[in-house]
Amino acid sequence: MANTHTDEIRNMALQYQWMHNADWTQMAETGEPLVMVKGEGVRVTDSTGKTWLDVHGGYTCVHLGYGRTEIADVAYDQMSKITYFPQGTTTIPVIELCEKIAELTPGDLSRTFPGSGGSEANETAIKMAKAYHRRRGESGRYKIISRKGSYHGTTGGVMWLGNNATDFSLSDFEPAAPGMIHVPHPNHYRDEYNSKTPSETAIKCAQAIEDAILMHGPKTVAAVIGEPVSQPIGAPVPAPEYWPMVRDICDKYGVLLIIDEVITGFGRTGKMFGIEHFDIHPDIMTMGKGIISSYLPLAATTMSERIAETFGSDNMWHAVTSAGNPVAAAAALKNIEIIENENLVENSKVQGEYLKNGLTELMKKHPIVGDVRGIGLLLGMELVADRESKEKFSKEVNIAGKINKEFKNNGLILQSDGNVITVGPPLCVDQSDCDEIVDGIDASLEVVEQQLGVK
Ligand SMILES: Cc1ncc(COP(=O)(O)O)c(C=O)c1O
Repeated sequence: MANTHTDEIRNMALQYQWMHNADWTQMAETGEPLVMVKGEGVRVTDSTGKTWLDVHGGYTCVHLGYGRTEIADVAYDQMSKITYFPQGTTTIPVIELCEKIAELTPGDLSRTFPGSGGSEANETAIKMAKAYHRRRGESGRYKIISRKGSYHGTTGGVMWLGNNATDFSLSDFEPAAPGMIHVPHPNHYRDEYNSKTPSETAIKCAQAIEDAILMHGPKTVAAVIGEPVSQPIGAPVPAPEYWPMVRDICDKYGVLLIIDEVITGFGRTGKMFGIEHFDIHPDIMTMGKGIISSYLPLAATTMSERIAETFGSDNMWHAVTSAGNPVAAAAALKNIEIIENENLVENSKVQGEYLKNGLTELMKKHPIVGDVRGIGLLLGMELVADRESKEKFSKEVNIAGKINKEFKNNGLILQSDGNVITVGPPLCVDQSDCDEIVDGIDASLEVVEQQLGVK
């Protein structure tokens, strides 16, 4: 494709498109955005013909990798039959998908509200939790407890969960939704309690949830929400004590436990769902991304029949036009079939261990890496100005700008926020892809450390 056309299309993007969290003035100066035209496996090709390794598989969502035409085939087939559902009806792929989710998910999760994105799935979960309590005569329960640093989405309600905003601020959208309570995250590396062991961190952070429930009044709390392992803060894996304690605390006070599997679901952590590492069962589970490898928009909110039966003859006000789209459901079923048939969950475990070892080795050479953590193919490296004190880089250093430029120079599509480098490639990666990721990060850190004068 001719370069002139590339410039033309790039300029059109700068003029007409509003991209995720991207400043178009800055992009214009740095020759961005890249315009992608093709993808295969873990690699994508831009409009100049250059091929890149997509270290994140989109937004940690293209589990199958790019270019699986089987998904296109089933979508075409379903679209040729029926593309949508007339009011008050449903379709076969959607029914089958809900049944498949019931089969795959842990515990007694069995009834699914299909949705079109992860944020929406979490909005649905929170509405359900509140409506559930109301139907049981406890209308005072509206508060939601989440963990600092978690991310549960970007829409009106869920953006106030987790308190994740770092470089850009939520103050544009104030006032906050009422009843959002934030508790410490079980991240041993950055433990607010300075605990000596990961177990101590886990126990104190779980205890913080009970303290918050008691402080706010147990009869005012509707739910606790959390990701089994949280990506934005670099995928710290809680010690085994954490989730069982949280489950017990929720049960003790009649609080629902919502597990957000939008990023961890469908094999990302080396098990079908991240919460399976911790052997507890949620009341409500949300999922997105890997459910369809983001070939089309789709998400889901699944609950146990214990919760669902409350709504059986007293439904709640909730409808989304794109929820329950049969084309997306057919594509998701094929996606899950491929994940199962090609053992991608196991591959995530095996390659995840290999990749984590490679990244951990880099700590020996690179003093600005303070910690490497994660599980399966949900990994993170924390960057620090001083390894001993764990001091973060100041904003003026612009570590994100520096390292992201080097990732690009090394052929990696990978963006760090300057605090952590998160790594979450498609689940189809092989060992040589992992080597290429480690080598690219290694070379990038080398240049940045020289620029910083730490080498
Ligand atoms: C754990 C988690 N929950 C929810 C969301 C929001 O999903 P979506 O971007 O599809 O709205 C994300 C997105 O990254 C996520 O990682």
